[in-house]
Amino acid sequence: MPIYFPRSLKGFLPRRKVFSTWYDHLSFGYDLVGAFQPSSIVELGTFTGQSYFTFCQSVLDHEFSCRCYAVDTWAWTPDYHMDPYDESVYSEVKDYNDSNYSTFSTLMRMEFEEAAESFSDASIDLLHIDGHHTYEAARGDYETWLPKVAPGGIILFHDTCARVKDYGVWRLWSEIRKQHPSFEFKHGFGLGVIRKQGGERRSQPLLDLLFDDNEERHHQLRNLYVYASHLQTLEGRNRVYENVQNRLAKEKATGGSQLHDEMKKEILDLKSTQSDEFERIKAEILEARKRQPKRN
Ligand SMILES: C[S@@+](CC[C@H](N)C(=O)[O-])C[C@H]1O[C@@H](n2cnc3c(N)ncnc32)[C@H](O)[C@@H]1O
Repeated sequence: MPIYFPRSLKGFLPRRKVFSTWYDHLSFGYDLVGAFQPSSIVELGTFTGQSYFTFCQSVLDHEFSCRCYAVDTWAWTPDYHMDPYDESVYSEVKDYNDSNYSTFSTLMRMEFEEAAESFSDASIDLLHIDGHHTYEAARGDYETWLPKVAPGGIILFHDTCARVKDYGVWRLWSEIRKQHPSFEFKHGFGLGVIRKQGGERRSQPLLDLLFDDNEERHHQLRNLYVYASHLQTLEGRNRVYENVQNRLAKEKATGGSQLHDEMKKEILDLKSTQSDEFERIKAEILEARKRQPKRN
């Protein structure tokens, strides 16, 4: 096995940067697309496009030909575990797609069930499932879309470790992970990776590490991408500081206050993110307590 030193560690910076719990997995998503070089990618659940546009960036950076499809209603409903959002999310995503990736990327604004009719069986190489997170919804998406994935194709499941509210991707994951060659990242909200049975498996360092059943190497791969995610966070913070510094300098020169107002909003957003994280940790502790054997 050659030493695995992924391209993401050689200075990958995500061009798309929006708030998303996918942030922990960007380096891996970028490397996976570059390593696997799928002919088609479908994402179920795109929202502001953090994961999706990272896949698109990787297609461009690795210079191969691929059709990408993002499926989402981009219409908020109280069922979707999401904070309310309005039409501006879709228009911004559409503008971003039009300006950067329209030659190979298509936004499909519709329900997943409806979109499934546009794909023939075994036509998708890489599928990412990140829609509604209850067990029933995730299982429904998996069952509808599994036949659409080519033999040997890869399916990603976000949120395999999330135990908040009525999230149930973890339960689906526990049921299916043994049915396929699989791998799970446990940092952040968790990311499951399976390779659908069949097809020819190309030998490639990342794919070998993922799908050879070698627990020690799995452990090393997990650690590597935890490190990559910390690196990404640090790079991200550096860029934010630089940006704020530049803008403050400009505002000082012109006497404006826009940045001040924006920063107030960012602090509020940060507070709400932290409270979500707090709920998640609380739920994990309660869950762990339940699993502890009772003492007399
Ligand atoms: C968690 S967000 C996706 C996050 C995104 N992948 C990222 O990187 O940040 C889930 C999205 O799935 C969409 N969604 C959930 N169920 C859906 C369905 N059945 N049909 C279409 N869109 C759906 C919601 O509108 C929402 O925008």
